Amino acid sequence: MDNQRENNSGFYDRISRAYDLIADAGEHRAREAGEDMLAVVTGETVLEIGFGTGNSLIAFAVSAGAAGEVYGIDISDGMQDVAGRKLQDRQLQDHVTLDTGDARQMPYEDGKFDAVFSSFTLELFPLTDIPTVLAEAKRVLKPGGRLGIVSMSTVPSGEQASLLEKTYVWMHQHFPHIVDCQPIDAERSLAEAGFEIGQAKRIDIWTMPVQIVVAKPKH
Ligand SMILES: C[S@@+](CC[C@H](N)C(=O)[O-])C[C@H]1O[C@@H](n2cnc3c(N)ncnc32)[C@H](O)[C@@H]1O
Repeated sequence: MDNQRENNSGFYDRISRAYDLIADAGEHRAREAGEDMLAVVTGETVLEIGFGTGNSLIAFAVSAGAAGEVYGIDISDGMQDVAGRKLQDRQLQDHVTLDTGDARQMPYEDGKFDAVFSSFTLELFPLTDIPTVLAEAKRVLKPGGRLGIVSMSTVPSGEQASLLEKTYVWMHQHFPHIVDCQPIDAERSLAEAGFEIGQAKRIDIWTMPVQIVVAKPKH
């Protein structure tokens, strides 16, 4: 197991039970906007990368219905425990397959999914690994499939970063074990990885910009 993987799984195992309180309470508005933009419909096969406490998996399982299939992959066993319990509470466990694994090397066959989603996860990877994660997402999408990304975003050129954003970036540079993610330009990363942007919008969470994007692989 490499360092980044070991750090992430240990960190997320430790915070899994508190995650909804400390993170999703602020992030859920953007996450849910991403779910809405992805617009999963009945019968679709959907994958979430970095499913965390399983909130989006629940939404996708409801939208895809009994005729659909939902899969989730996450590096953290702790997150899998929390998500698994929530799915059981809602009696959705039979519609959702949870896998422990690394987004950079996923155990799914080519062209399996109608839609792939990932929120607040792409920005955890070193910048050099983001193309690998996106290439994996592209590989497992069906032709014509779509990828939804929600991520903390760099400040668009011409705009000033807020004090909170500057502090966040500084903390990531100096204390990456405490602040594990960095704002990224998701639209640009997707374009560089061979995706065509379908829809995109930005919202702010506590003065920090978040990008919500749905894109399709270019042919
Ligand atoms: C910030 S949380 C976001 C969780 C969820 N998507 C949400 O929006 O609430 C990031 C998630 O990515 C997972 N993760 C981190 N590195 C990963 C990797 N290399 N492969 C798969 N999942 C990873 C973490 O365990 C964690 O559950």
